[in-house]
Amino acid sequence: MERIVYVNGEYVNESDAKISIFDRGFLMADGVYEVTTVLDGKLIDFDGHAKRLTRSLNELDMKPACTDEELLEIHRELVKRNNVEEGMVYLQVTRGAADRDFAYPKDAKPSLVLFTQDKPGLANSPAAQIGMKVISIDDIRWGRRDIKTVQLLYPSMGKMMAKAAGCDDAWMVEDGSVTEGTSNNAYIVKDGVIITRHLGNEILSGITRAAVLRFAKEAQMKVEERSFTISEAQDADEAFVTSASTFVMPVVEIDGTAVGTGNVGPVASRLREIYLDEMRKAAI
Ligand code: PDD
Repeated sequence: MERIVYVNGEYVNESDAKISIFDRGFLMADGVYEVTTVLDGKLIDFDGHAKRLTRSLNELDMKPACTDEELLEIHRELVKRNNVEEGMVYLQVTRGAADRDFAYPKDAKPSLVLFTQDKPGLANSPAAQIGMKVISIDDIRWGRRDIKTVQLLYPSMGKMMAKAAGCDDAWMVEDGSVTEGTSNNAYIVKDGVIITRHLGNEILSGITRAAVLRFAKEAQMKVEERSFTISEAQDADEAFVTSASTFVMPVVEIDGTAVGTGNVGPVASRLREIYLDEMRKAAI
């Protein structure tokens, strides 16, 4: 069955959805996006995603396509029309269509596109019991990774490098320190302390990261926001990643070296459980 998607004010069948070939998202990756998870037919942390979207737009001098209230309404309508119980809503705003020019167009109307992805069993993913294997790769992305732009070619290449190495994902390294995963934030646990890179232009400020660190502190766990190296990670007791679509996902191997026991650790398991419980309660 065809999905119903949203394009610039209209709900249409996916095969009828159209965007101009002059859209700057298509020509120049001049656009930003958000991915919001759906559990039990409800949105997880919509406010966090809406706030980060506004920030991304502001950083790029882009106009919002609509208000946050309208965005929420569109998210809910798509979830309803596509009967999504577990999955994602993808949202993209671009600067709109204009004749090709490096200068930003003056009067282009932003393009707004949303679609759902059905992912039954997302919360009970067997991968969370097994854990992921990661490789390290150089972080050669641009310097404003705090803005959630649609320039995802290098993360996509990183994912393919990981697959070619028989692994699940890649952790990116810059100046000797881990920045983040291809589409997630990276953490290690040593002697009970949760360590994750501090925020800055080098990484995306994950919405899941913010919630997980809050829950960790509430559960009296120690948190340190600082850089760490791959060798420190290989020597850690546990490692994991967070993102809207994977929640808290254990990492059990880095560059062929087992982390801790090589099995999913108690801190990652506990944080995943707390995160899912709390976010389900707060879902809208
Ligand atoms: N990716 N870092 C990067 C580079 C990301 O692309 C993402 C999210 C995150 C985690 O952010 P959040 O917790 O807000 O999902 C960190 C999304 C899920 C994606 O591109 O599909």
